[in-house]
Amino acid sequence: MKRNILIHPDPRLKKVCAPVDDLSDELRALADDMLETMYDAPGIGLAAPQIGVLERLIVLDCVKEEGATPRPLVMFNPEIISASDETSVYEEGCLSIPDQFAEVTRPAEVEVAWMDKNGKAQRETFDGLWATCVQHEIDHLNGKLFIDYLKPLKRQMITRKMVKLKRELARA
Ligand code: NI
Repeated sequence: MKRNILIHPDPRLKKVCAPVDDLSDELRALADDMLETMYDAPGIGLAAPQIGVLERLIVLDCVKEEGATPRPLVMFNPEIISASDETSVYEEGCLSIPDQFAEVTRPAEVEVAWMDKNGKAQRETFDGLWATCVQHEIDHLNGKLFIDYLKPLKRQMITRKMVKLKRELARA
């Protein structure tokens, strides 16, 4: 089932999310809903707080080439184990901040540990777009948005646009 994506500013997007202790069928269904919502948007990543669920769960799939096999990843309690000194710059966007993009500098490579849908511990090193995306999504679990990396003036400008957008959506 497709879920509604919260638009910034929203207090739920600024919260530190709680760890997932027990994997339930409900949480697995939530992960499926998040993937459906992400693909539909379309986007390459989505974090649970973006649909108003304050738990440490993210989904991502950075396979973008036409016709390539999708690689949906579901991560409960994802954690960055190590990050490279080398950085990379990507133009980031966010489904909670529609149509706004800005360059963000992050570690180019990160090792991430998480629990998968079967409750199994996983660990993998990501680079390229995957590294940026997984860091962006984990930030969401700590109440951090990509615009928090921007200069205050730019951040305020984007936030004002979003306030306006939400007003228009509420009227529609
Ligand atoms: Ni985002």
